[in-house]
Amino acid sequence: MVIKFGRKYLRFYNQDEYEKNVSKSDQEKELPSPEMELKIPLNAKLIDLIAPEDLKTEQTTFLSIINSRVSRRKYLDEVITLEELSYLLWCTQGVKRVLKLGAFRTVPSAGARCPFETYLYIRKVEGLEPGIYRYISLQHKLLFIKSVENANELFSKLAYNQRFAANGDVLFLWVAVPYRTEWRYTTLSHKFIAIDLGIVCENLYLACEARGLGTVAIGYYEQEKLDTVLTKS
Ligand SMILES: Cc1cc2nc3c(=O)[nH]c(=O)nc-3n(C[C@H](O)[C@H](O)[C@H](O)COP(=O)(O)O)c2cc1C
Repeated sequence: MVIKFGRKYLRFYNQDEYEKNVSKSDQEKELPSPEMELKIPLNAKLIDLIAPEDLKTEQTTFLSIINSRVSRRKYLDEVITLEELSYLLWCTQGVKRVLKLGAFRTVPSAGARCPFETYLYIRKVEGLEPGIYRYISLQHKLLFIKSVENANELFSKLAYNQRFAANGDVLFLWVAVPYRTEWRYTTLSHKFIAIDLGIVCENLYLACEARGLGTVAIGYYEQEKLDTVLTKS
C-alpha cells in the first residue's frame, strides 16, 4: 500500500515547484512576528529552576552515552530532584540567547523559530506538587497550571493503554504552535516542525542517559484528548 498523501509531506520542493507553490510568507509581507512563548497569566508565581551554570556535569563520555541509550519503559520508584528536572529542561529547550526574531537554544530549530511549548505532567519531583506545569524557557522557570485527578489512569489511557506512559516521574508533553514557523516558512513549516521535535526528543533521551535516568518517546497517543487535558481549566 502506498500512502501518497503522507509521502508528499516528506518531500521538499525543487526550485520550480517552490516558486509555484510557496506563497509569500507573513514575514515577507512584513506582518509582525508571533510571540516566542505563550503568555504568562497576570500575577502568576513562577517557580525557580536550578540555573544552567549550577547544573551538575556528567561523568560519562559522550560516546558512552550514545552507545548506552535505549528506550526504557520500567522505572525505579524514586523521586527525581529539581536539579535533574532543570537539567532535562535546559537540555531540551534551554534558551542561550534571544534575538529579535527568534531564540538560540540548546537545540537547533529551522530558522530559530522554536515552535514548541514544553508542558510537563509532574508525578514525582522533589519539592513540587503533582500536576501540569509549563516550562517558561525565556526565564528558565516553571509555571504551575493545574492538578489532575486520576492522572495515572488518564495518561495511560491517552497513550492507548501503554501503562509505562503514566509510570515515569515526569511526562514531557511538547505542544507545537505552528504559526511561529509558518510565519517564515508557510507550507514548508510542517516538515520542519516534525524535524525540530525529533531533535528535542533526542536531546531528552541523551540528557536522561547522561544522568542515569530512563525515558521512552511515545508517538502513539490521543492527541486531541491530550490537548483538551492541557487546555481546559
Ligand atoms: C517518534 C517515536 C515514537 C515512538 N512511539 C512509541 C510508543 O508509542 N510506544 C513505545 O513503546 N515506544 C515508542 N517509541 C520508541 C521506539 O519503539 C524505540 O525507539 C525503538 O523501538 C528503538 O529502540 P531504542 O530506542 O531502545 O533504540 C517511539 C520512538 C519514536 C522516535
